[in-house]
Amino acid sequence: MSPFHVTRTLPEDAMAAALRADVQHGLTSDPKWLPPKWFYDAHGSDLFEQITELPEYYPTRAEREILVARAGEIATALPARTLIELGSGSSEKTRYLIDALTGLRTYVPVDVSDSALTQAGKALVAERPELDVHALIADFTAGLTLPDTPGPRLLAFLGGTIGNLLPAERAEFLTGVRALLSPGDALLLGTDLVKDEQVLVRAYDDAAGVTAAFNKNVLTVVNRELGADFEPDTFDHVARWNSEREWIEMRLRSRTAQTVKVPALGLAVDFAAGEEMRTEVSAKFRQESVRTELAAAGLELAHWWTDEEGRFALSLSVAG
Ligand SMILES: C[S@@+](CC[C@H](N)C(=O)[O-])C[C@H]1O[C@@H](n2cnc3c(N)ncnc32)[C@H](O)[C@@H]1O
Repeated sequence: MSPFHVTRTLPEDAMAAALRADVQHGLTSDPKWLPPKWFYDAHGSDLFEQITELPEYYPTRAEREILVARAGEIATALPARTLIELGSGSSEKTRYLIDALTGLRTYVPVDVSDSALTQAGKALVAERPELDVHALIADFTAGLTLPDTPGPRLLAFLGGTIGNLLPAERAEFLTGVRALLSPGDALLLGTDLVKDEQVLVRAYDDAAGVTAAFNKNVLTVVNRELGADFEPDTFDHVARWNSEREWIEMRLRSRTAQTVKVPALGLAVDFAAGEEMRTEVSAKFRQESVRTELAAAGLELAHWWTDEEGRFALSLSVAG
């Protein structure tokens, strides 16, 4: 077997059908919304990598700081032979875990972005030829079937991506994760923490406009895949802190009154001048909220690590 192979768990037409269903539902809702997973075509994945290097975007640096300091402890707590990573993207920070897990045999990155998976997988195999990399193109919210690989297994979900799920989606997702874990396996979860509003807003509205371009990329994806005629320049990027829900909302605000056609769905969608469409939430957490959400899914928080400034947390939990 080659050390790098990619499996598509959903046929391409299932992804296309999911996009159609989401766009139909989101653009006919009031208020309008689109789910964040459609940001990540090849261009969107590149833009996300650029975001991780912006001075304002602290989560990647904070999580990397924790991994550098704690990868050894994580490996001692869970000496995994298989590392599964959901929403793995470039797998850049994952290298600290891979290096610390001395008995690791198999790495299973899971992502909707085939370009990110292929790029990351090829680079990893070149660097660590002894590692079996089994990439899965899959939607982690749609029920996962994992390859049969040796335990113990560490399931990592980094980057604070769990915050992109709404509370009910998170509960369903964590219950699904719990069902994937066997005795002796563990979940390593990255969660961004509640902090000063200005710091949070700046992280999602950078001076160079990279996050704005990332946000508008979802319109380009809908144009390309469904023949829509969104003009991205007629929308403004908005990032707002919702103090009640403790999440950042990214939205796109229509500059003018306009009608957007989506021929593949037979839709004509009216936007009022100033109307905002939600494209992402990014929930921020506290230790107790993480513990409670994990417990509700049958997972017990065993370790909690933060960076020096207390901006971001990594937690390790086991089936309770
Ligand atoms: C915020 S980025 C984080 C990337 C990386 N884990 C990190 O920490 O830098 C989210 C990643 O999850 C992927 N993703 C988003 N929604 C997904 C879904 N429903 N199923 C699978 N992958 C998804 C995106 O393609 C992207 O690579």
